[in-house]
Amino acid sequence: MLLQISFFLCIICCSQKILEAKCDDYYCTSDPWKCILKGFESVEEIDEFCNRRSVFEYTDINGNINTASGSQFQIIEFQNVTMTRLPSACFTKFTSISELYANNTGIKLIKDDDFQNIRYLQILNLSGNKIDTFENSSFQYLGNLRKIDLSYNNIEKVPIEIFEGMPQSVTVINLNHDQISQFDEQILLRIFKIDQLQKFHDRETNTKISILLSYNKINEFLSTVNKCKLNYNGKRLLELNLSNNFL
Ligand SMILES: *[C@@H]1O[C@H](CO)[C@@H](O)[C@H](O)[C@H]1NC(C)=O
Ligand SMILES: *[C@@H]1O[C@H](CO)[C@@H](O)[C@H](O)[C@H]1NC(C)=O
Ligand SMILES: *[C@@H]1O[C@H](CO)[C@@H](O)[C@H](O)[C@H]1NC(C)=O
Ligand SMILES: *[C@@H]1O[C@H](CO)[C@@H](O)[C@H](O)[C@H]1NC(C)=O
Ligand SMILES: *[C@@H]1O[C@H](CO)[C@@H](O)[C@H](O)[C@H]1NC(C)=O
Repeated sequence: MLLQISFFLCIICCSQKILEAKCDDYYCTSDPWKCILKGFESVEEIDEFCNRRSVFEYTDINGNINTASGSQFQIIEFQNVTMTRLPSACFTKFTSISELYANNTGIKLIKDDDFQNIRYLQILNLSGNKIDTFENSSFQYLGNLRKIDLSYNNIEKVPIEIFEGMPQSVTVINLNHDQISQFDEQILLRIFKIDQLQKFHDRETNTKISILLSYNKINEFLSTVNKCKLNYNGKRLLELNLSNNFL
């Protein structure tokens, strides 16, 4: 009887241990303040992992383990993760991140509210995914964004709407190795529209922007805008790289 009970207990313990090992698949450090979330097989799994947690364990510079709330961390990286969209539940915890590496994860869709809780983001790496759809104002919350990497996705058309809210701070938009067949100069105006509005306020802080469109299928460069206007606005343009297209 005793043997049976202890055997039973062991099964409970062991299965709990397995469950925890599976669920605790993350590694955080304080130098830098970074968390790597790894080995998740779906976005629901990641969301659930984040929902369950109010603090995260991290290894400090001396190798000691402490805990901190998600808002302490600056960098989030996903490794060996499969997901179809960004895990929104995690961003209600990691609210202060400045760098997000969700490259090579399988994301297909960027939604309007994906970034509403991570407004300090400066580097967004979405390279190597399957993104073909954006919602219109996906980037509207990211007022500090500097680099956005959308290379190696399935983007067929640069959605003008997403550039409407693209913040002044952006210096690199990487769309290399996508499936874009048409590039409309209107996009340049959209990007620089914000620039015009802000000119009066911070003339000196204007950043130069590089738009990388190499290795797409662009066979036509639509010149629908007034050249003078573009030149004027184009003072912000550092590089527009259209190499390796069908032009
Ligand atoms: C990747 O994650 C899967 C699922 O959690 C796991 O079975 C596999 O061992 C992991 N691979 C590597 C290289 O970490
Ligand atoms: C994502 O990009 C970062 C920076 O280039 C790199 O260090 C990391 O290995 C990449 N992750 C994956 C899963 O490819
Ligand atoms: C994004 O990640 C890819 C690797 O997946 C890397 O080559 C690229 O340099 C990264 N871009 C940024 C801006 O971190
Ligand atoms: C984005 O807005 C335009 C009009 O500004 C609209 O025609 C289009 O359907 C919208 N797209 C999405 C995905 O909401
Ligand atoms: C344009 O992009 C290609 C491919 O990424 C690169 O080899 C080339 O150096 C770039 N051109 C300029 C002028 O930067």
